[in-house]
Amino acid sequence: MYLADQWQDYQLIDAGEGEKLERWGGYVIQRPDPQAIWPRGSWPAPDACYHRSNSGGGSWQIKHPVPHAWSVGYDSPAGRLTFSLELMGFKHTGLFPEQAANWDFCIKLIQNAVRSGRFVRVLNLFAYTGAASVACAAAGAEEVVHLDASKNMNARARENLQLSGHATKNVRLISDDALKFVAREQRRGRKYDAIIMDPPAYGRGPSGELWKIESDLYSLVAQCMRLLSSQPLFFLINAYATALAPTVLGNVLDLLLCPAYGGTASAEELCLPASARRILLPCGATGRWVP
Ligand SMILES: C[S@@+](CC[C@H](N)C(=O)[O-])C[C@H]1O[C@@H](n2cnc3c(N)ncnc32)[C@H](O)[C@@H]1O
Repeated sequence: MYLADQWQDYQLIDAGEGEKLERWGGYVIQRPDPQAIWPRGSWPAPDACYHRSNSGGGSWQIKHPVPHAWSVGYDSPAGRLTFSLELMGFKHTGLFPEQAANWDFCIKLIQNAVRSGRFVRVLNLFAYTGAASVACAAAGAEEVVHLDASKNMNARARENLQLSGHATKNVRLISDDALKFVAREQRRGRKYDAIIMDPPAYGRGPSGELWKIESDLYSLVAQCMRLLSSQPLFFLINAYATALAPTVLGNVLDLLLCPAYGGTASAEELCLPASARRILLPCGATGRWVP
């Protein structure tokens, strides 16, 4: 299991009855979580609560004043990373706290490589608000290519780079379809030492290109193989909100990376520990390949 248990500013307080209660800096929010099938304890009233609507989506109920935007910091092995938060649609806040376990993984490998004098280039696909891009830049990557279909998400990624003091780092924010971009990078002959991807189960590119993880993931990873440098550092696939078990991600990496580069592929659930009682909340799966 990969456990995101180094947070100070964020805390999963408890979960149960299809809901989770979290502290984000100074604010407590309650959101649905289908994995939390057990009874819940007695919870204090949150500052904000997300209610699903029967017609899909949902809305936030504000119980105590919550700022339009606020931020949390994460003390990573590459120093403090700061991320902007907001009560967004689809119960999002603009950050996936469980990903901290993956940020730490990337940071440590990049720092080791940089210390040994390597020039590290990272490709981050489906990069959302850029937390992993900020982490890789903070770790010393010479170049991070951050790709997401959404211009809004890239704007938030720029804000997170600024908040974290890495606005001048070489991070290219690109709004495009992941499959299309990878094909273009192949034609350009560009190479990367590390690739990160966190695709949704279902998504659309800027021009409506359809993404379905079950049918597209394997071929995307296979296409990404041609972008890897001769000595790749790592390859990370995260999958959330899908029925794909961790082993599936491990198999994809094992089938594609190991024959070409040796090394090992591993895959685990990504979890957040609760503070109120001894439960772990599963938040998806991560596959990792290292040489
Ligand atoms: C929820 S995020 C992933 C979370 C992110 N890796 C993180 O931890 O911060 C999924 C992202 O995929 C993007 N997306 C969906 N379909 C896409 C496509 N075909 N090409 C590129 N990005 C896409 C969405 O805009 C969204 O920002």
